[in-house]
Amino acid sequence: MKKLLISLTLLISTTTLMADIGAGEKVYKENCAICHTINGGGGLGPDFNMVAYTRHKEEIEHYAKDPYSLYKSFRYSANAMPTLPLEDQQFKDVADYISSLQPFKKWMIKKQPSKKMIVKNEENNESVEVKTRT
Ligand code: HEC
Repeated sequence: MKKLLISLTLLISTTTLMADIGAGEKVYKENCAICHTINGGGGLGPDFNMVAYTRHKEEIEHYAKDPYSLYKSFRYSANAMPTLPLEDQQFKDVADYISSLQPFKKWMIKKQPSKKMIVKNEENNESVEVKTRT
C-alpha cells in the first residue's frame, strides 16, 4: 500500500511538471484560436504552424505569457496581442502543443558551405568568381 501511494504521488507530481499536449490543444481552442490559425486561413496573429517551424518552445511560452515586453525582440513594430490571464502550466501546455505541430524546425536545415569557383570567359579572357552550393 505504501509503495502504491509513493508511486501514485510520483506519477501525479511528474505529470503536473511536464507539459501536456492534449491540455495545450484545449488552451489553444479556448484562448488563441480567435486570433491564430493552424495551417493557414489568416487571423490577427501569425499562423501557429509557421510559429512552430521558426520558434523554440521556450520562445512561444514566453511570448504567450508576456507579449508586451517581447514584441520588439520578436521584430514586431507594435503589440496587438493581449496579455492573457492564464496559469503558468497552461502557457507551458499550449507552447508544447504549438511546438508539436511542426516536428521539423527551421534550425534543423543544415547549411552547406558554398564553394568558390573561378569561371573564365574564353572570348575576352575575363575571370568571374562564382559561388556554388554542392
Ligand atoms: C486578440 C488576438 C490574439 C489572441 C487571443 C492571441 N494572440 Fe498571439 N498574437 C496576436 C498578434 C496580433 C500577434 C503579433 C504580435 C503582437 O501583436 O503582439 C501575436 C503573436 C504571437 C506569438 C509570436 C509569434 C512569432 O513567432 O512571431 C506567439 C508565440 C503567440 N502570439 C502565442 C499566442 C498564444 C499561445 C495564445 C493563446 C494562449 C495567443 N497568442 C492569443 C494576437 C493574439
